[in-house]
Amino acid sequence: MPNSRVVVLASGTGSLFQALIDLSPQLNINIVGLLTDSEVQAGERAREAGIPVTVIPMATDRDVWNSEIVAYLREQNPDLIVSAGFMKILGKDLVTEFAGRIINTHPALLPNFPGAHAVRDAIAAGATETGSTVHFVDAGVDTGAIIAQRSVPIHQNESEIDLHERIKVVERELLVEVVRNIVQGKVRYENGEAVTA
Ligand code: GRF
Repeated sequence: MPNSRVVVLASGTGSLFQALIDLSPQLNINIVGLLTDSEVQAGERAREAGIPVTVIPMATDRDVWNSEIVAYLREQNPDLIVSAGFMKILGKDLVTEFAGRIINTHPALLPNFPGAHAVRDAIAAGATETGSTVHFVDAGVDTGAIIAQRSVPIHQNESEIDLHERIKVVERELLVEVVRNIVQGKVRYENGEAVTA
């Protein structure tokens, strides 16, 4: 069977993306492209790995930006799109067109602490545990069907940076596991739900 075509979306340091790069031979995936919205460290990681990088910055018009991304994705024809720290909300049309083929990793136990400041929000709420969630992407903010979750205890007086680093260790493992399961057909998207075979 040919390797699955995977596109990764990232706008940060790209350590999650790196985990996918490192394990791509074992996962039987071919990362055909990285899409970013600005020049970020994830882009350097892609270039080092010989993966084409496409930068589509958000101009003033969000609809134009979304349609540029849709055009890019159609061209790549991916089996799976992995949002690994992509800090922008994707348009409804895009999410609908690629439904069941886009997953996102989030640094909290959804539905708790959705949004861009999940780690900070968990600390501020006085939570004693948080974690990592991988889910299918729908039109909401971190609302799509949950595929897998893993918890991480919050230490007393821990800084946001330290906690986020510990969560990312777990996120990397969970993301790799979910990608493996999707590629092997063990998890799929049906009627808005994540179904395990
Ligand atoms: C991850 O925690 C991801 O869930 C969040 O941004 C972080 C990306 O980390 N949205 P990195 O850039 O892959 O190191």
